Amino acid sequence: MTNKVEGGKMFDIKNKKMFVVGLGYIGLPTAAMFSMAGFSVLGYDKDERVVERLNSGAVYVEEGVTELIDKGLKEGNLKGVSQYEEADIFIIAVPTPIKEDKSPEMSMVLDAAENIGRVIKKGNLVILESTSPPKTTTDLIAPKIRELSGLEAGKDYYLAHSPERVIPGNLLNELVNNHRIIGGVNLESAEAAKACYETFVKADIYLTDSTTAELAKLMENTFRDVNIGLANETARICEDLGVNVWELISLANKHPRVNLHTPGPGVGGHCIAVDPWFIVYNSKNANIINLGRKINDSVPDHVYSMVKDIIPKGKLTILGLTYKPNTDDFRESPVVELAKKLIADPDYEVSLTDPYGENKQLKVAGLEIKKDHMKALEGSDLLIMGVNHKDYDDLDLSEIGKVMNTKTIFDTRNSISREEAEKAGFKYILLGDGKHA
Ligand SMILES: NC(=O)c1ccc[n+]([C@@H]2O[C@H](COP(=O)([O-])OP(=O)(O)OC[C@H]3O[C@@H](n4cnc5c(N)ncnc54)[C@H](O)[C@@H]3O)[C@@H](O)[C@H]2O)c1
Repeated sequence: MTNKVEGGKMFDIKNKKMFVVGLGYIGLPTAAMFSMAGFSVLGYDKDERVVERLNSGAVYVEEGVTELIDKGLKEGNLKGVSQYEEADIFIIAVPTPIKEDKSPEMSMVLDAAENIGRVIKKGNLVILESTSPPKTTTDLIAPKIRELSGLEAGKDYYLAHSPERVIPGNLLNELVNNHRIIGGVNLESAEAAKACYETFVKADIYLTDSTTAELAKLMENTFRDVNIGLANETARICEDLGVNVWELISLANKHPRVNLHTPGPGVGGHCIAVDPWFIVYNSKNANIINLGRKINDSVPDHVYSMVKDIIPKGKLTILGLTYKPNTDDFRESPVVELAKKLIADPDYEVSLTDPYGENKQLKVAGLEIKKDHMKALEGSDLLIMGVNHKDYDDLDLSEIGKVMNTKTIFDTRNSISREEAEKAGFKYILLGDGKHA
C-alpha cells in the first residue's frame, strides 16, 4: 500500500457529488444516508421503474430508512437518474449472485465498472460495496476502468472495497453502528473512502487492503454457514442415534467455550448461502467450506424424505416460507425449495401460507402463498412448521386441530411445544429429535 494518487493530497469530501449504482436493499439506504451526511447523491439503477419509484417518493424500505429517503428527496440532496454521469465518488451496490454451477455472477459489477470507466476523472473515488470474490477490486474493477478511461487505480483515482454487513430489518441502526472494514488498493484509497463513511458511521472503521476486506466479508458469512452445517449434521446424527438435537445443543452450549448453532430446514438468503461459494471458487483449499455448503444445500431433500415417511400422501400445509423468520425476503429460501419438491410430488396436495407472502404476490411453482394460515390449513393432514415467524408464536392449536383433517405437526424449527401439541391431540414430529422418532 505505497502508491499515492497523483498530487498525494487528502481526499476532500466537501461539496462532493456521489453516484450510487444499484438502488436495492443496500444501495438505496446507503444513498439516503450519504445524502443526509451532506453529499449531493444521484442514485442510478438499470431498472427504470426503481428510479421512477424513487423520484415519485413512492419507495418503502423499512422504518427509518423510508423517512430518510423522503427527507433527501425533499431537500434536493437525493435524486434518481437513468444515465451515468460525471461525479466525484462512485459507489457500486449491484447484486453479486451465483450462477447455476455455483460460480460468481459478476456481470453486474463489470457493467458498473465499465460505465464508471466511461465517465471517471482523475482524483475521483470508486467504492465497491457489493460482496465480491477475492481480488475483484484489483483484478476485475481496476483493469475494466483502466480499459475504458486509461486511468490507473491508486495512482490516478482512489479505489476501495467497503463490504456491507447490515441486516434488512435493522438497516438504519446497523448502517450507523456496525464496525466497518475498508480495503484500499493503496492506503490513500482506504483513507479517502473512510473520510466518506465517517460522516455517518459511529462505530470503528478499520483500514486494510482490498483483498483482505473482500475475504473478511466472505469469511464472516462462511463462519456462520459452516457452523450451521455442523448443526444440521448434528441433527442427522441425533436422528440416527436416538438423541434429541435440541436438548443436546442446549447441554453442550453450557460449556463456556462452545456455541453450537441451530439446525433447521436449510440455509437461505442471498448472503450466507452464496458467499462461501466465492471462496470455494477461488481457492482449492476451501474443503470444510465446500462441505458445509453441500450439507446445508442437502437439508431440503432430507426434510422432504422425512415428510414422505410421516405421511406418504395427503394434503400438506407449510407455515412460513421466507429464508428466515420475520423478514419478507424469500430469496434462496430452503423452505421454498422444500415446497417445490412437495408440489412436484403427485402424492401431495400442497397449501402455502406466510404472513409476508400475499403482499409480495409471490407464487411458488404456480401456487399462491396465502396470508391466513387457518384457511391454508383447512382439510390438511400435516402442518409443516417451515419458518417460525413471530406471527406463529401463539398458534391456537385447538382451533387448528378443528380445521385439519389429520392432526399431525412436523416442526423443522423447534418452535411448537411438544407438550402443548400432544395436549391438543396432535402427533408431533420434530426435526433432529431421534428420541421420539
Ligand atoms: N441485502 C443484504 O442484506 C446485503 C447485506 C450485505 C451485503 N449485500 C450485498 O450488497 C450487494 C447488493 O445487494 P442488494 O441486496 O442491495 O441487491 P438488490 O437485489 O436488493 O438490489 C440491487 C439493485 O441493483 C440493480 N441492478 C442490477 N444490475 C445493475 C446494473 N448493472 N447497473 C445498475 N443497477 C443494477 C437492480 O435493479 C436492483 O435494484 C450484493 O453484493 C449483496 O451480496 C447485501
